[in-house]
Amino acid sequence: MTTLITGAAGYIASHAVRRVLASGHRVVGLDDLSRGNTEAIDAIRRHDQPRDRLTFVEGSIADRALMESVIREHGVTSVLHFAALAYVRESVEAPLRYYENNTAGSIALLQACDNAGTVERFIFSSTCATYGEPPAELIPITEDCPQHPINPYGHSKLAFEKVLADYSALRASKSQDGGRPFATAMLRYFNVAGSAPDGVIGEDHDPETHIVPIVLQAALGKRSHISIFGTDHDTPDGTCVRDYIHVEDLVDAHAVVLDSLEPGTPGSERPRVYNLGLGRGVSVREIVDSAKRVTGVDFEVRDAPRHPADPPVLYCDASKITRELGWSPKITDLDEIVRTAWNWMREHPKGYRASVTESANT
Ligand SMILES: NC(=O)c1ccc[n+]([C@@H]2O[C@H](COP(=O)([O-])OP(=O)(O)OC[C@H]3O[C@@H](n4cnc5c(N)ncnc54)[C@H](O)[C@@H]3O)[C@@H](O)[C@H]2O)c1
Repeated sequence: MTTLITGAAGYIASHAVRRVLASGHRVVGLDDLSRGNTEAIDAIRRHDQPRDRLTFVEGSIADRALMESVIREHGVTSVLHFAALAYVRESVEAPLRYYENNTAGSIALLQACDNAGTVERFIFSSTCATYGEPPAELIPITEDCPQHPINPYGHSKLAFEKVLADYSALRASKSQDGGRPFATAMLRYFNVAGSAPDGVIGEDHDPETHIVPIVLQAALGKRSHISIFGTDHDTPDGTCVRDYIHVEDLVDAHAVVLDSLEPGTPGSERPRVYNLGLGRGVSVREIVDSAKRVTGVDFEVRDAPRHPADPPVLYCDASKITRELGWSPKITDLDEIVRTAWNWMREHPKGYRASVTESANT
């Protein structure tokens, strides 16, 4: 089996590359390097020695001709589609870029799969941002919660969910007439955190917008302090509450969902939909306290005004995937999640690029 992993040089997808290689599949990783780090792929090659089971292609999902030739050349049967622009605030400043990349780019990828005709399984990285700001009575958020995104990023992802649902229905009816069967899933992640526990790869965004690495940068001394935006919310400690899932658990869920997809069986005309989170709310203040415990550094924390349109509480009901597939996360302790991120960051204080240069000089 050959699995195409888009966005492979990015944070989550690079972890998925290792997970899929570990299950014995060949992997073609693709990334346009607009945000990713090829050093993550280099680190996987050095450490896991996948040799010819891992191919990396630099290019965009929006390049339909390239995608079609990659899929044909490698006989791709499964796609894990992670590639996206994923900064909420940037999406407000550049909505066209987000729709073009995340929605139109994903459509080009799907069209390439259709033209090549080899792909039977397709998993799309969706997001809790497609739910927007549900009312308090709909939290914890189930997969049936109405989807009303509140920013272009969420809309750009929800639009492709609709495309994928319509395309699945078409493929199901074609497969009844002898066409190649197809099955798909959309996984709505909540907040992803942590790094590979063996320290081979980690999280390195520029700029960094995720709370765990930001807080750890303060512990490393790369920031003079951190600011908590919003300390007067209607939550137990006044700060925003989110749902953090460890990246290893998240990619493990992809492998389980991929194995469970049964193209051509009843039900495969509709995408499977699962929330991926721990089903537990954790506040910003709790993340800060955890980072202080894990690192032993008492960095400065300042209270700051709320960001506009920052929902106070978002966490999911994560029970559907456990009920249906028997999968549940293993790394559930907040300090353990933070510790894996810290271990990588301490070893790579300047991120991927600097670590490669430094190790080349020693
Ligand atoms: N990190 C989270 O907490 C989180 C939460 C919900 C959903 N997601 C989704 O998970 C996926 C991965 O997120 P991440 O945090 O690893 O982001 P990331 O920015 O680290 O990785 C995304 C990768 O996609 C690549 N990319 C972007 N556009 C591309 C294109 N047109 N062609 C090829 N490659 C392209 C980037 O270069 C980058 O390497 C995204 O789809 C994101 O929307 C992430």
